[in-house]
Amino acid sequence: MDSSFLGQAYQHPAPNILADVCEQAATMNDVIDLSVGDPDFTTPLPIIDAAMKAAKAGHTHYTAAMGMPELRQVVSEDYNHRFGLNYQPTQAMITVGAEHALFIALKAVLDPGDEIIVPEPCFSPYIEQVEMCGGQPVIVKTKPEDGFAITAEAVAAKITPKTKGIIINSPNNPTGMVMIPKQLKALAQLAIDKDLLIFSDEIYYDYVLSGHQFVPMAKYAPGNTVTINGFSKSFAMTGWRLGYLLAPQWLTDAAGMVNDGVTFSAPTPSQYAALYAIQHHDELAQPITSAFAERLHYLETTLNQVDWLKVSSISGSIYAFLDIRATKLNSVDFADQLLKKAGILVVPGLAFGKAGEGFERLAATQPLATLKKAVAKLQQAKWGVKQ
Ligand SMILES: Cc1ncc(COP(=O)(O)O)c(C=O)c1O
Repeated sequence: MDSSFLGQAYQHPAPNILADVCEQAATMNDVIDLSVGDPDFTTPLPIIDAAMKAAKAGHTHYTAAMGMPELRQVVSEDYNHRFGLNYQPTQAMITVGAEHALFIALKAVLDPGDEIIVPEPCFSPYIEQVEMCGGQPVIVKTKPEDGFAITAEAVAAKITPKTKGIIINSPNNPTGMVMIPKQLKALAQLAIDKDLLIFSDEIYYDYVLSGHQFVPMAKYAPGNTVTINGFSKSFAMTGWRLGYLLAPQWLTDAAGMVNDGVTFSAPTPSQYAALYAIQHHDELAQPITSAFAERLHYLETTLNQVDWLKVSSISGSIYAFLDIRATKLNSVDFADQLLKKAGILVVPGLAFGKAGEGFERLAATQPLATLKKAVAKLQQAKWGVKQ
């Protein structure tokens, strides 16, 4: 028996640039790794303590399938208090990370051949997930000259009778764009008029730079929005694998049905960790998010002084998206040369779709001192630049 036994999709898998970069990063020493979007902070100690305490007290069993009731309550209250929304605890479902939340929500709504509009550049699992759920991703290319904005007009142009929804991500990975209320309202109105769901990945909602504001999609179209969020980024909890969705009740219930056959419940100690985290949201998240804000401000300012480089304006997230088009290199070759000649690991923009070509994503997941070293190396770089 060999790999020809596998399902067709896995016999000749499409190249996965992001996975290749992660694999490369794991094997190399002496590299400034700006590739993976995993905050470099250890989870704050009180959160770890809360999980340990719960586990030692015997909370080592399954929880209710939809998540611990008290966690569903605080998660919905947190959104309600911050953004003036009106979620009931039963509309929240606790999941094994935000990625899992998106998957089960898509699975709950897609029939074979249904279309989901995905603006690119984007977090690449969106495309895979739509396909795994039997759907058809329909790409909308966003443009650097528009600040990679997702506009209702561009989305409207791609709607067909098979369209069931759109996936948005603001603050955005990889571009750093944050949608403004006018854009959110226009998209909300489109979704309401055309009966579409908006899957709104808000995992970077705490990462908004000064002068910008995060507004959740559910503010404008609560009946059409599946809010996807989690604990990985705000509280440096990637390894705890905990996320959630907030959706209209019928959809939360259906996502629960999908998940009954997949993971049943999310890890119990992680749910206790998350409960503590969200109950102390601002005091725990703020030191992490402000460190990233300082780093991104530094990267944006210094890298824009390099004559062959531009940084598209960063409003939020933990990434800088570097415009390398002046080098005339494609994003994969540039990343390769950057690694070999300067020992800096980044993710080629192509990993986020064709609309990301000509760009590199730098994750600000290293201390400022390390970023300063990386910038010094980049300032010396002349590869491929037409002299
Ligand atoms: C946009 C986006 N959504 C979701 C995730 C994954 O979140 P989680 O760790 O909660 O699955 C990431 C991680 O990089 C991300 O960038």
